[in-house]
Amino acid sequence: MRNPRNFTKPLAIGAPQPLAEIPVRPSRSLHFFDPSNERMAAKLPAIAEKADILVANLEDAIEAGKKEAAREGFVKIARENDFGETQLWTRVNSLDSPWFLDDMTAAVGEAGRTLEAIVLPKVQGAWDIHFADQLLALLEARHGLERPILIHAILETALGVANVEEIATASPRMQGMSLGPADLAASRRMKTTRVGGGHPGYLVREDPDGQRPDAARVTAQQDLWHYTMARMVDACVSSGILPFYGPFGDIGDPLACEDQFRNAFLMGCVGAWSLHPSQIEIARRVFSPPPDEVHWAKRVIAAMGDGTGAVMMDGKMQDDATVRQCQVVVSLARLIARRDPDLAAAYEL
Ligand code: GLV
Ligand code: MG
Repeated sequence: MRNPRNFTKPLAIGAPQPLAEIPVRPSRSLHFFDPSNERMAAKLPAIAEKADILVANLEDAIEAGKKEAAREGFVKIARENDFGETQLWTRVNSLDSPWFLDDMTAAVGEAGRTLEAIVLPKVQGAWDIHFADQLLALLEARHGLERPILIHAILETALGVANVEEIATASPRMQGMSLGPADLAASRRMKTTRVGGGHPGYLVREDPDGQRPDAARVTAQQDLWHYTMARMVDACVSSGILPFYGPFGDIGDPLACEDQFRNAFLMGCVGAWSLHPSQIEIARRVFSPPPDEVHWAKRVIAAMGDGTGAVMMDGKMQDDATVRQCQVVVSLARLIARRDPDLAAAYEL
């Protein structure tokens, strides 16, 4: 355990002071792109107008022969662009890979003034975060950075899930966590072969009808990710960091993608990854509270006056606890309204 008194002290002489609070900004979509692809790089300014966060991917999906080109492409993109309100992050290769050290050195040394967060894959426990934390502090000190680079961990190993609380609290750099269903499925030896979403075999079936034993019995698919998402949300929120759902690989099934994202939103996540530009709009829609919910929440808050006691509204009981839920919805709406004029108008904020 780290001494909490040292939590706000830099880990290296000359490194910037760690943040006491994680900055909360609209983070509905983390758009992953291949920085070695020049055609894609040219489209980034347009994509940045829609996505809240751009993630230069150096890890999985970038073939081994293109790792250096991806790293160099990322540095060039960071140096040559100003994406305004849209944050620039990078997903580095895993800590045990031959690329990790050069990824970190280039990211901090050559793009550190623009980069907001490093996405750390395949995190297993607090020791991984401690190692990256120390390395970042040394690199920040060497390059004279004035703002600490944050860490976003991917929860995608069985051991990582077992250690999720200690990962969330391992460092003041921890910005948040994303559920990585593809690697997590492999690590757990689940018998799926897809990136996120449900599986038709994972279901419950209604009981047989005693009178009609041959009658068809209704089944309903269950959410394979519910348990992990719930653990991750509790670990993140109780540590003051932000939970995200990760990738949804079936680009051709926007409806199921939207369902997966909405489950995450309702359970407390603030955003999800987009692997294709079409998923940015899905994430923007799903992770922005619906305008009718915001109007309802504003009505409840107004009707509850100082926020204590109980009132009946449209036949439903409201009390201090529903006001607190409504405040969550309205404060998220206010945050998003500052970035998104269309939604500001729809929310009447
Ligand atoms: C993401 O990296 C995943 O493995 O799902
Ligand atoms: Mg992965």
